[in-house]
Amino acid sequence: MTTLGTHAAVAATTVTKAGFGKLPDGTTAEIYTLKNADIEVGITNYGARVVTIKTKDRDGKVGDVALGYNSVEGYVVEGTAKTYFGAIVGRYGNRIRGGKFTIDGHEYQIPPNNNGNALHGGPHGFDDLVWTGKELPNGAEMSLVSKDGDMGFPGTLTLHVLYTLVGDSLHINYKATTDKTTVVNVTNHTYFNLAGDGSGPILPEVMQINADQYTPIDAGLIPVGGAQPVKGTPFDFNTPTVIGARINDANEQLKLAGGYDHNWILRGKAGELKVAAKVVDPKTGRVLTISTTEPGVQFYSGNFVDGSYTGKTGTKYEKYAGFCLETQHYPDSPNQPEFPSTLLKPGETLHSTTVFAFSVQK
Ligand code: GLA
Repeated sequence: MTTLGTHAAVAATTVTKAGFGKLPDGTTAEIYTLKNADIEVGITNYGARVVTIKTKDRDGKVGDVALGYNSVEGYVVEGTAKTYFGAIVGRYGNRIRGGKFTIDGHEYQIPPNNNGNALHGGPHGFDDLVWTGKELPNGAEMSLVSKDGDMGFPGTLTLHVLYTLVGDSLHINYKATTDKTTVVNVTNHTYFNLAGDGSGPILPEVMQINADQYTPIDAGLIPVGGAQPVKGTPFDFNTPTVIGARINDANEQLKLAGGYDHNWILRGKAGELKVAAKVVDPKTGRVLTISTTEPGVQFYSGNFVDGSYTGKTGTKYEKYAGFCLETQHYPDSPNQPEFPSTLLKPGETLHSTTVFAFSVQK
């Protein structure tokens, strides 16, 4: 017997890099595979996207819970009818009314790409850029320099997104700096289907969101009227509720978006890591717990996914094929001074963390 204490072995993570098909300019896209005993995650440098997340179900059976394509060509082919599968969206994730905002008396215009508004940074946002990838001991770092004037945004923005595996969790750490005052809202746009990619609608999955308020929207899906209580509405997910239970209710807000596509105001302090949402798939027992330092989360139920694209498993992605939980600052914050600020100034560093933790429920 040894006199030394025995330490539980920490699950080692391996990181490998491979080709992921051809980009339009003929160069080869990369995919980084992060793997430990619990999960396996694929990240491509095109849009810094999460391509796959393989996790075990309650019987130990491995399945991929992220929507996406087998090679980079699938993402490129989407053209303007974008799903943003797995991407880091920015420079301003979510919407800016009319694509316009003012900083220090100067008006900026982002080309509108969604009902007259700017969505996810305009027509060629960060989802559409080739990032610089780097292998790290437990993960991969994706970096980007967005030039002054890129999609109309002021200032050269340097952004690093670090994906690391910690046990059964995927950690996403964001770090950004600028050389001119700008607005920044970056998030990850993974579509989850805890029953497995391509297994049909996510409506039976059970959602919990730790929020007492949300921001109701207008027909352009932009918040109007500030924060409103979720109590007594189909937006109250404080008690775990089946996603499909109320999605077709005669509710004006659900009708405007064709389902859920709203920002929830998370309980707890912005800047502190807190549990934002928990989703359980009763069929497989898979559980996803999302924690974040961000003040809000956009729960999008995949309403605009319309059967146009065929994913990794060979099945067509139809409406509700996956859900997104985009941890973020609120939509249109640059025009809504009562919302937490999205301004980033020279000399400041933006830090943000989101954790996707996977477990099972018997
Ligand atoms: C976000 C938006 C949705 C939709 C998707 C992409 O989640 O809030 O309205 O545009 O991106 O289809």
